[in-house]
Amino acid sequence: MRAGVMPKITILPDAVSGEIKTGTNLLKSAEMLGVELLHSCGGMAACTTCRIVVKQGNENLSRIKLAEEEVLAEAGILHSHRLACQARVFGDVIFERPVWTLGRDSSLTGD
Ligand code: FES
Repeated sequence: MRAGVMPKITILPDAVSGEIKTGTNLLKSAEMLGVELLHSCGGMAACTTCRIVVKQGNENLSRIKLAEEEVLAEAGILHSHRLACQARVFGDVIFERPVWTLGRDSSLTGD
């Protein structure tokens, strides 16, 4: 990352982007950019509803820690997703959020 330059976050499929303070997690980053991600457990690495797919800049995110690794593995998405509430940004990142289908007779099915 360039010295003194804030990381740029881009959120798909919304095509929303903006600069975020280094070290901010992706859940908070999205909120600051006006994109609401589900976060049923309140950011405690327990629910996976904040799951995202990193399209570019995986190397610019904080390393995965045990709590995140365990919950992603339990959900069967360890090698494809990160938890937005746990991944902190240190450089430019492009990620895709799930588009959940919520309804009376549906469950969370986003991927
Ligand atoms: S908000 Fe629940 S795991 Fe991120």
